[in-house]
Amino acid sequence: MARIYIKTYGCQMNERDSEQVAQMLMERGHSITVREEEADVVLLNTCSVRDLAEQKALGKMGMLRALSRDRPIVYGLLGCMAQNRGSALLNELPHLDLVVGTQKFHRVADHVDQAIERKWSTRLDDVRFSIVDVDEEANSQRTIRDHVLGERQATAFVSIMQGCNMHCTFCIVPFTRGHERSRPLQEIVDEVKSLVAKGVKEVTLLGQIVNLYGRHEFVSVDGKSPFVQLLEALQEVSGLERIRFTSPHPIGFRNDLIESFGRLPKLVEHIHLPLQSGSNRILKAMHRTYTAEKFAALVDRIRSVTPTIAITTDIIVGFPGETDDDYARTHELADRVGFDNAFIFKYSKRKGTPAAEMEQQVPDSVKENRNQDLLELINSWAKRRSEPFVGREVEILCEGPSKTNPSRLTGRTRGNKIVVFEGAPQHIGTLLNIRIARSTGYTLYGHPVGG
Ligand code: 5AD
Repeated sequence: MARIYIKTYGCQMNERDSEQVAQMLMERGHSITVREEEADVVLLNTCSVRDLAEQKALGKMGMLRALSRDRPIVYGLLGCMAQNRGSALLNELPHLDLVVGTQKFHRVADHVDQAIERKWSTRLDDVRFSIVDVDEEANSQRTIRDHVLGERQATAFVSIMQGCNMHCTFCIVPFTRGHERSRPLQEIVDEVKSLVAKGVKEVTLLGQIVNLYGRHEFVSVDGKSPFVQLLEALQEVSGLERIRFTSPHPIGFRNDLIESFGRLPKLVEHIHLPLQSGSNRILKAMHRTYTAEKFAALVDRIRSVTPTIAITTDIIVGFPGETDDDYARTHELADRVGFDNAFIFKYSKRKGTPAAEMEQQVPDSVKENRNQDLLELINSWAKRRSEPFVGREVEILCEGPSKTNPSRLTGRTRGNKIVVFEGAPQHIGTLLNIRIARSTGYTLYGHPVGG
């Protein structure tokens, strides 16, 4: 039996896929290690969304080769970059044994076993034996369904669909994750029920375009989209306390979903709603199919139903052709909305996407300046959005020890604000009220009420 090191790059969906891979390997008797130096098998689950993420994984895989000086090691690249580059990766990294794409995570355990057997018996490092498995597979979206839960783990990710048909011109996802495919509703509900039976209280539903769940497979009923039908079904799961989802597209964020926040108590008061740009010209070139005005109106409608809702976003700066004036519109809209938090990305050329071929690529120094400027605005809004919590009591779900200071505990409010507090081990995995004493902008600090 082998010791297996898995490192994950990128989004929550990648985390979730790695969890599935780990579960299947453990089921076969392998163990998972967090120490690369003791691993027999090294798996990097990769991200392609920006060039930096690819370079990091390639660099890491190159460095890890040194491990095989003293003993045979099986090396695998999984996920988005594996899907996108396929067997070409073997030219760059000839020590790779496995290249496994995004529709084949459920095959990783078989491939690992096969590679181990060969490596351990022959000790051969020969690309002729490398396994490249990057084909499409019908129903692969239904294979991400098993979990590895830690002790007192109260939160879990649930992948409800795969792929995206939107074809935003900057985005590699259609190439790495394929077209939209959704899981049957009942299968998702059953998965959530089994998580709840093991102590999970909060689920985050995952999809590249999560609010369009089921649009090709299922029909709307009484004006409710398949996604809203799923939310309603999950509302009925007793013992489940909180439902989150990420990431939706502003297109398809219709009234049935907006109203759900008013009537489904388990649906938390937080939406991550990617804006990308506040310039209509750039939105059009991005193929985002909404305008700045429509985005602002959507936020207003959401807030009219749920005034306290936290809204976070993704913004790209330096998309090809973005002028100072275009960027000023983004700044203006971000200021008008007043996001609770935002991920800001400098545009990164992705080979094969339409934007990579566009003229007027923006120099890095300009991207950097816009990035800094926007970051300041986002930080100041984050502070303004957190400040009102000081002196108040908030409900949090305690996730465990704080990463920065393990003697303290951490959890999140329904609005997804991180709260750090002095607590006791029995708080882990439970909902409790915290009185907030201070805020640093992104983190709130406080004490258990009555504790
Ligand atoms: N360059 C920069 N950022 C990108 N994103 C997606 N593609 C690119 C790219 N080529 C960002 C988007 C998306 C987030 C997950 O990553 O903002 O919402």
